[in-house]
Amino acid sequence: MNGLLFLFSLLLAIAMAAGSHSMGLMLLFIILALALGVLMVMPIGGADMPVVISLLNSFTGLAVAADGFAIENIAMIIAGTLVGSSGTLLTLTMCKAMNRPVTNVLFSAFGKAETAAAGGAAATGSVRAVQADEAAMLLSMAGRVVIVPGYGLAVAQAQHQVRQLADELALHGVEVSYAIHPVAGRMPGHMNVLLAEADVPYDQLIEMEAINPEMDRVDVCLVIGANDVVNPAAREDKSSPIYGMPIIEAEKAGTVIVMKRSMGKGFAGIENALFLRDNCRMLFGDAKASLQELVALVKAG
Ligand code: TAP
Repeated sequence: MNGLLFLFSLLLAIAMAAGSHSMGLMLLFIILALALGVLMVMPIGGADMPVVISLLNSFTGLAVAADGFAIENIAMIIAGTLVGSSGTLLTLTMCKAMNRPVTNVLFSAFGKAETAAAGGAAATGSVRAVQADEAAMLLSMAGRVVIVPGYGLAVAQAQHQVRQLADELALHGVEVSYAIHPVAGRMPGHMNVLLAEADVPYDQLIEMEAINPEMDRVDVCLVIGANDVVNPAAREDKSSPIYGMPIIEAEKAGTVIVMKRSMGKGFAGIENALFLRDNCRMLFGDAKASLQELVALVKAG
């Protein structure tokens, strides 16, 4: 149906470009274009939504640039081209980070694959909750700790508490660094901006590609409010909708401590088998409150 709508709109556009001045054709064209826009976006959901928003943003820029040509307005051409090209670059960057072509984002209907995955590979194992005092002990006794920040850290606005924890751990002789996934959070560079707000030294931020080969030498991986970006299904479960997306290989660390409020899912809406692994401990609670507790405990111990 979308294909037919597109074809019909294209024919109308050609008729108008060829010289038809009918107001009726113009109105029909506008209605069809609106319908096509809504129908194309409706099936897209989950983690693909920000990509589509960025793509539509870039289209607005291109439309403004085209208007600029039509009414010979140079300012509109320049502004429209800037918005169009930056939106396109952002869209392609996001797709690259998720390891999916933009056509797959637009036409694969994320939700369908998700249902299949839910019925497919069921994760096995049990959840091991940990209390803040045990987590603080594990952290302060570690030689190397890698913190994986995610969307939940931004929601909790706990960036200053993370910095305090890292400072306290450094006083205990622990080497602390941060593993930055390119699509952690909800926009490119989200985690960099968040941690920069708390003046986290830039050289402690390590890109995913650089940290992954070192993960098996990390004593404790502290995952704070991240979920999809550490989901091993992306590497191991071919039926998963996020299969193929590069992830931070947190599960390779000696111990993984995951801080989140519940067993709730991340943006992609899928289970995370990492939480059931033998070396994984869940520290349940709001990231800010838990971090404050951890800072106090590490300081006291
Ligand atoms: P998510 O997978 O969205 O997981 C965030 C987790 O944070 C949730 O599971 C949630 O669990 C937890 N959380 C929420 N509020 C919290 C709080 N106050 N305290 C502690 N935990 C809290 O995040 P991610 O790992 O950063 O992954 C990002 C996702 O967004 C990916 O799927 C990615 O593809 C998608 N995405 C990102 C971008 C860019 S450019 N960044 C663009 C498009 C799509 P609880 O509810 O159990 O607490």
